[in-house]
Amino acid sequence: MPFQGMSTQSRCVVAEKVITSDVITSETGGMELRELVPLKMKKCILLSFLCVLLLCLYNGWLRGLIGLTAVNPTAICSRGNNTSRNVTILLWYWPFGVSNNLEGDVCWDLYRIPRCSLVDKRSLFSSADVVVFHNRELIQGRQELPIALPRPQCQRWAWMSLEAPIHNGNLRPFADIFNMTITYRRDSDVAAPYGELLPKETGGHLVANDLRNKSSLVCWVVSNYQMYHKRSQVYSELNAAVPVKVYGKWTKNSLSSSDLLPTISRCYFYLAFENSLSKDYITEKLWKNAYQGGAVPVVLGPPLSDYQAVAPPNSFIHVDEFASVKELGKYLQELAKDKKRYNEYFTWQEDWKVKLHTDWRERLCKICLQYNNLPQHKVYSDLNAWAHSDKI
Ligand SMILES: *[C@@H]1O[C@H](CO)[C@@H](O)[C@H](O)[C@H]1NC(C)=O
Ligand SMILES: *[C@@H]1O[C@H](CO)[C@@H](O)[C@H](O)[C@H]1NC(C)=O
Ligand SMILES: *[C@@H]1O[C@H](CO)[C@@H](O)[C@H](O)[C@H]1NC(C)=O
Ligand SMILES: *[C@@H]1O[C@H](CO)[C@@H](O)[C@H](O)[C@H]1NC(C)=O
Ligand SMILES: *[C@@H]1O[C@H](CO)[C@@H](O)[C@H](O)[C@H]1NC(C)=O
Repeated sequence: MPFQGMSTQSRCVVAEKVITSDVITSETGGMELRELVPLKMKKCILLSFLCVLLLCLYNGWLRGLIGLTAVNPTAICSRGNNTSRNVTILLWYWPFGVSNNLEGDVCWDLYRIPRCSLVDKRSLFSSADVVVFHNRELIQGRQELPIALPRPQCQRWAWMSLEAPIHNGNLRPFADIFNMTITYRRDSDVAAPYGELLPKETGGHLVANDLRNKSSLVCWVVSNYQMYHKRSQVYSELNAAVPVKVYGKWTKNSLSSSDLLPTISRCYFYLAFENSLSKDYITEKLWKNAYQGGAVPVVLGPPLSDYQAVAPPNSFIHVDEFASVKELGKYLQELAKDKKRYNEYFTWQEDWKVKLHTDWRERLCKICLQYNNLPQHKVYSDLNAWAHSDKI
């Protein structure tokens, strides 16, 4: 169905859609415009009708000029089958306004991902296989979707966000627009976790932990302390049972980035407590702070099974594994005294190494690895429901 060549009729529908969206955009664009609309309603309808007619005529004429026109959806569709061609990923704007260098063959040069051209020039829209939109700027209204541009039928629009649902805003206006998602969730079309463990190529050996350097039982780094966060309750209960050393803005005891890991390395346990409890939302608190810092992570976030899916057994301690926080505290105390059992929490390091993901370019290049496995046709008809479906 989706890959049938477009008939004149369907193209006209596309054109009609463009006009409608234009009217909607200007209506909501500002107070002044909104007041003018009722007065000019008739004119507008007439004009829209004429535009649709014109576009349809124009389009019919264009279809005769295969190859010359920038907007030729069927051309892009037919190239979809050629696995030896470049896939073009267009980033419509840079997340948080911070751009990166895209010179050369970035995906190959940096990540050894072949046949993947990552671009940020909007003029390449009509030839892009995937156009990526970062959510933050959309919901803040600082960027807009190019809904007025004729969208090549086989082009996929990707919704990208690494934030927990609570920070994604109201996504209802984005129903029926996106074909794929790029988030930390494993059920995204392209999963972009904050970190992961990769198998070690050469048989690694365990560097014995020098427990003599461990001076704190439990450490926590927190800048955004909110009473309503579940982690705050767990912390205060735990702190009542065992000493917890707290760093970060909250206690005006911030660590510089160069002090962070060495400080954590002097702790037996690190509280990798997420501020938002959402499916698969496992951040650098686990991958970097705990795993790279060399403290055993005590995790609070998504359910145990989400951690088990991405982290080796016996590499972390989940708060939910205990009937009470008090019991967790007791367990930590006992474990710290038992050198052998404590060190077993580091045996994963023999087989795995931590990979942090921090570069947007890498996430974007990874689309190409998935590209040929993406469903032929997919529309997020209710993105809002999808993005918020995972509140715990
Ligand atoms: C893709 O190419 C293969 C072989 O080149 C062909 O058998 C197949 O029908 C093509 N599929 C589409 C959807 O064009
Ligand atoms: C596939 O793409 C490559 C690179 O663009 C091109 O050289 C080749 O002719 C294409 N093959 C087909 C069957 O279209
Ligand atoms: C694929 O893209 C890269 C990077 O943009 C470029 O250097 C290379 O020439 C392209 N290859 C083809 C066959 O288009
Ligand atoms: C332990 O601490 C000492 C002194 O601070 C330092 O020289 C040594 O490298 C540390 N060992 C480890 C394994 O971190
Ligand atoms: C992408 O979504 C648009 C808008 O809903 C839809 O018209 C188009 O067929 C979809 N394309 C793919 C490849 O799924």
